[in-house]
Amino acid sequence: MPSLVVSNDMLSEFLDTSDEWISTRTGIKQRRIISNDSLKELATKASLQAIEDAGLTPKDIDFIICSNTVNNYVVPAFSCIIQGEIEANCPCIDLNAACTGFMYALYFAESLIASGKVKNVLVLCAEEPSRIVNWNDRNTCVLFGDGTAAVVLTEGNSFKSIHLTTQSRIEPLYYQRKLEYNPFVNNPDGDAPLVMNGKDVFKLAVSSSLADIGTVLKKTDLLAEEIDFFLLHQANMRIIETIREFLKQPVEKFPHNIQKCGNTSSASIPILLDELYRDGIIRSGDKIVLSAFGAGFTTGAAVLEWAK
Ligand code: ACO
Repeated sequence: MPSLVVSNDMLSEFLDTSDEWISTRTGIKQRRIISNDSLKELATKASLQAIEDAGLTPKDIDFIICSNTVNNYVVPAFSCIIQGEIEANCPCIDLNAACTGFMYALYFAESLIASGKVKNVLVLCAEEPSRIVNWNDRNTCVLFGDGTAAVVLTEGNSFKSIHLTTQSRIEPLYYQRKLEYNPFVNNPDGDAPLVMNGKDVFKLAVSSSLADIGTVLKKTDLLAEEIDFFLLHQANMRIIETIREFLKQPVEKFPHNIQKCGNTSSASIPILLDELYRDGIIRSGDKIVLSAFGAGFTTGAAVLEWAK
């Protein structure tokens, strides 16, 4: 995580907002923002820690999949940069499924391993949403935080089910990047910092997450009661609470860290997973549901049995 902690009160020094508005509407009290550190340093550290924790070395990694929405480079892919930093020696690819990126990366990693082509896949989520929002727009900038997290997937049968969806819905959430000048282009390109229709995102998030969770539970013949933890994308505490109420499950099954991290896009679920694992809260044999949604509109959910 970046070292700089930015509280709601710090935001209210330059924005017409308040700790009271942000925390009651979203559950967020503070977030980490990249200031003196860099996405590359943080992503390298997360990757090396995950590989070490898996009892492997970077040379054992057969593929790197990085979920990243933006960074300084359009090319090469961010995963190529991190491969060099960690001294791995394998093919790399980036994917952009916005906040659902972890689920999409897991899907590809699991498929690669199941195909027998590779054994160990590093999935890295490296996100710096602070660089796509307009810091004068109180509707969006208060919601996000920066962060990185990585996991290593290896052979086994922990994945019980994974399900992804995409419906092409641009208006609820988009960011347009400025392109270079081209003398042959007559129509001006759009470029806009992150634009969000919060109410539309809220409704899409709740309905699609519930549908996805229902699908993966059905595929695995499990009831919500049999799940130990639901790790949901950390976008808004009210979204998490609404999903929990529909599922009629106790609050203890819905751990969250949005209060201190904000929405770290695709890194939010793996950051939470890492915290719970290091704190000894999730244990070997626990049945976990992961569920995320993001711009696109993309969604994904999975059921896994924690094996570590
Ligand atoms: N501080 C103070 N006032 C604010 C702020 C702020 N930071 N942001 C917006 N407002 C104002 C608006 O200007 C508006 O004022 P107006 O009524 O005078 O026009 C008013 O608050 C809107 O208030 P509400 O209608 O109560 O807002 P709502 O309950 O819809 O909450 C929120 C807004 C928190 C954004 C909610 O819609 C939400 O969480 N949506 C989901 C957003 C989300 O999760 N995005 C994820 C982003 S990316 C991803 O992960 C997929």
